[in-house]
Parts: sequence; structure tokens; C-alpha cells
Amino acid sequence: MAEPRDVPKPEVEEENKWRYVGEVKELNKKKCHHVHAKSGKKYDVALFCDEGKFYAISAWCSHMGGPLYHGQIEDYNGRCHVMCPWHAYMFDLKTGTNDLGLQQDIYEIKFEKGQLYIQHDSELSLGSYVITCPVK
Ligand code: FES
Repeated sequence: MAEPRDVPKPEVEEENKWRYVGEVKELNKKKCHHVHAKSGKKYDVALFCDEGKFYAISAWCSHMGGPLYHGQIEDYNGRCHVMCPWHAYMFDLKTGTNDLGLQQDIYEIKFEKGQLYIQHDSELSLGSYVITCPVK
């Protein structure tokens, strides 16, 4: 008689991590948006728009935490970079790298029916998430 075999468990489908950010026609009116992460400020994203192309990188500079969403977009060595407003380090918007070996997280972007989505573990919002205290 054959031994009972373990039945393989069905693979659990990974949660859809594409997060809606906004309408492309509205987002491309500004060079950069500070996109807030519901899971905490350290996961915020800087969403850049330059000549119709979008780039999403971690919002806080990996040098000393400067707000990259206030940085200027620059052409540096023929590639699109952001210059950190605090100490002027440059970060490649496609790769998140810089000349000194620092690294920003970068995020995938997709477009559907005129809407922009960022692949991110946290829910995202263009407005900050308000923390409320329970009223006693
Ligand atoms: S904090 Fe960005 S370059 Fe120093």
C-alpha cells in the first residue's frame, strides 16, 4: 500500500504592492512630489518628473537625511540626477547611486489608464498621514 504523500500547499499569492499615487496629468505639473508612506516617514518616496519621465526614489538622503524632494534635477554626466539640498551630493534618478557609493532605494513605476502607481510595501499618499490620539 502506498504511503500518503504530503499534498503541496497552494502558493499564496503575493499581496498586490502597486500603490496608486495619482493622475499622471496632475503629477507632471510639478517637478517633484513628496509621497508619504503610511508605514512611517522613513519609507517616504520622492517622485520626480522630468521631461515626461517619472522616477521614484527614497525621499531621505542616504548621506545625512536631507529631503531629496526639495532637490534640483540636474543633468550630470549625461544622466538625470537629483542634487540633495543639504550638501549637494548627486544621485542618479534611475539607479539611486552616487559617485561616493551612497545608495538610495528606487521604486518601480507603472501607468494604467492615465494613473501612476509605485511598487511599495506601504500604502502611499500625496498628503501626510495624520496620527490621531484617542479622546478620553
Ligand atoms: S544630506 Fe544629502 S548630501 Fe548630505
